[in-house]
Amino acid sequence: MSNTAVVYKSDYGAARSYAICIAKALDADLYNLRRIHEFDFSRYDALVFGGGLYAGQVNGLRFLSSHTQELEGKRLAVFTTGLSDPSIGENVQRTEKAVAKALVGSEACSAPVFCFRGALDYSELSFKHRLAMAGLHSIIAHKKPDRLSPDERVILDTYGKSVDFVNLAAADPLIEYMRSK
Ligand SMILES: Cc1cc2nc3c(=O)[nH]c(=O)nc-3n(C[C@H](O)[C@H](O)[C@H](O)COP(=O)(O)O)c2cc1C
Repeated sequence: MSNTAVVYKSDYGAARSYAICIAKALDADLYNLRRIHEFDFSRYDALVFGGGLYAGQVNGLRFLSSHTQELEGKRLAVFTTGLSDPSIGENVQRTEKAVAKALVGSEACSAPVFCFRGALDYSELSFKHRLAMAGLHSIIAHKKPDRLSPDERVILDTYGKSVDFVNLAAADPLIEYMRSK
């Protein structure tokens, strides 16, 4: 048994791909949050949690926010997958803020957040997600091109398509961080 766990929540597979890669590199135990009934935090010294971004929030982050006491003293890192480009600083800062807000008041609040690019295939979207994206698209489509944020531009450019920005090499800094004890 490893002393590191990688837990992920993934709706369409992007966070899962990164989680598999990270778990392999760290020789860690891999868990799909959807299949966890009870998680024994005491078995691990280190934990990586990852989930996709949905409307700016990290999918499954409640797993951490509802167990902040069990996380105390452990090495922790969070990763996200999203369509937005993490090379744009404000995208990362927004996600860091969302994570810090969810974990506020706990030691876990200071965990580093690694933002990776994900994937999206509109033909696979659930009804709820398709509806959400259609609503967002109809708002953005009416904006003047020079008023669009980089995120809005990505949504317009990728709307209705299948795009895959997954780059597993982007996980290297997280892997290095977890190794550097
Ligand atoms: C309804 C919906 C909302 C989304 N919101 C965001 C978002 O706020 N920021 C972002 O970067 N990507 C957003 N995305 C894109 C997903 O984060 C991306 O597809 C990610 O790879 C999903 O990871 P998963 O397949 O592991 O769940 C959204 C996608 C959907 C369907």
